[in-house]
Amino acid sequence: MINFIIVLVATALCFILKYQWQNRRLVKMMNAFDGPPALPVVGNALTFVCSTKEILRRGLSIMAQYKNPIRIWLFHIPYVAITDPEDFQIVSMKALEKDDGYRFLADLIGDGLITAKVSKWKKNRKIIAPIFSRIILYHHYLDIFNKQSLKLVETLEQEISHGKQFDAWLYIFKTFFNIISETAMGYSKDFDNMETLAKLKDSTTKASLLAGQRFYQPWLQPSIIFKIYTFMKGWSNVFEESKAVPLKILKLKREKFLEEKSNNVTKEEKSYNSFIDILMNTHEAKHFTDEDVADEVLTIMFAATETSALITSFALLMLAMHPQIQEKVYEELRETFENSDRPMTTDEINKLTFLDQCIKETLRLFAAVPVVIRHTYEDLPISNGRVIPAGANIILAIFGVHQNENLYPNPKVWNPYNFDADKVAARHPCAFVPFGVGPRMCIGYKQSMVAITTLLATVLRKFKLSTDETEYELDVDFLIRSARGFNIRLEHRN
Ligand code: HEM
Repeated sequence: MINFIIVLVATALCFILKYQWQNRRLVKMMNAFDGPPALPVVGNALTFVCSTKEILRRGLSIMAQYKNPIRIWLFHIPYVAITDPEDFQIVSMKALEKDDGYRFLADLIGDGLITAKVSKWKKNRKIIAPIFSRIILYHHYLDIFNKQSLKLVETLEQEISHGKQFDAWLYIFKTFFNIISETAMGYSKDFDNMETLAKLKDSTTKASLLAGQRFYQPWLQPSIIFKIYTFMKGWSNVFEESKAVPLKILKLKREKFLEEKSNNVTKEEKSYNSFIDILMNTHEAKHFTDEDVADEVLTIMFAATETSALITSFALLMLAMHPQIQEKVYEELRETFENSDRPMTTDEINKLTFLDQCIKETLRLFAAVPVVIRHTYEDLPISNGRVIPAGANIILAIFGVHQNENLYPNPKVWNPYNFDADKVAARHPCAFVPFGVGPRMCIGYKQSMVAITTLLATVLRKFKLSTDETEYELDVDFLIRSARGFNIRLEHRN
């Protein structure tokens, strides 16, 4: 056994030494950056052999301790973490290729915009981006957000009668699942069965956790090890289960599309409101195969549902924990709507400036997407004459920028006044980047801000929130989650 271990370690050492010699320029440039001391062979990988909760804590502690850009070695793979807004902007504009690890996310969401290689991404983004700038203009979308927010309020009424704390997550997840099913796929039949939804939420969460672990913990990357790992956890089918519902809806949609085509249904008779309707009828998208369409739809379902649901749930929890701020939001809502319970309009959304600050502060502190990882094929000059070497992976540390003490004093405290106009004006434009920035910026950011505002305003007009929670605890996979759920209590406003 000892002989076997010696041979194994010696082989690994030879491999690493050969790599370092062949890539000596990259290694030299990397080692010029600040960063935690790296061990031979494993580099800094052992730092990430821990629970997912701990990964987030350790990642943040490295970012607080070392100066941007930060060098990290996962075995022989070089990573550079960016926590400075100026460099964040430069890298976002210039290094468009995603890190190879995104192929593990493709198990969950297919090979759509988020995971696609630049050559495919460029073609598809050109077709998909105009669809998003068109659909957000449709009043129809706001109608859907209003309708689902009112349904949520009705469902929450049932919780009031219990008068005790409950976890809001499944209700908010359900609301966004229904919103995205309708806006992305034109599927207006709601998923109301809480049992089915709980199963869907469960498989999505597990799939996301697995994909995230494989991303941060490279020893899970070889397929055979990953298969054994998922089998031992009893999670072998979670990727299929998490995709089953969206793929079923997509199948129905395709059948309807083909039926309309064969019946020569005219443009006027068709419903053109959802993402998929527009995509299937876009001339430029004619080269999309069925698989391409499925990939893009799964990508949007994943990108839109849990991110928006998490930010809304964190905002509810924070407002419940900060009653004075909640009262200020309520005053703004009363001034805007007086005592009417009419649905929201775009004008009214624009008037809710303090609620907007609360949402932005939630996006800062809980970010939903903690990091985006890019790859550079060329030397990439950043600020102060430094150069990231060709071949490096670059961690755009959204979470790190948002917790940078030089930008936000007391960065771990939820404080909507961080977004007072004068404070925003004094910061670098990339000091707040929850949706990324540049050509690969989130395609649904406007839609998601409007949906989150509509939902929060509708709930807060109806209910006063409270909670016994006094602090938050975070967990991470691909997304930032609450380790303790979103426990709140509701009371009717008069
Ligand atoms: C709170 C909600 C959301 C957050 C925090 C969020 C955040 C992000 C981030 C950080 C990225 C990566 C940007 C980069 O690579 O620089 C991204 C990409 C993306 N998001 Fe979002 N997002 C949200 C909601 C949505 C919604 C509602 C949709 C669609 C309806 C959406 C669709 C996408 C797509 C398709 C991409 C890939 C864009 C590309 O690479 O071209 N997201 N999002």
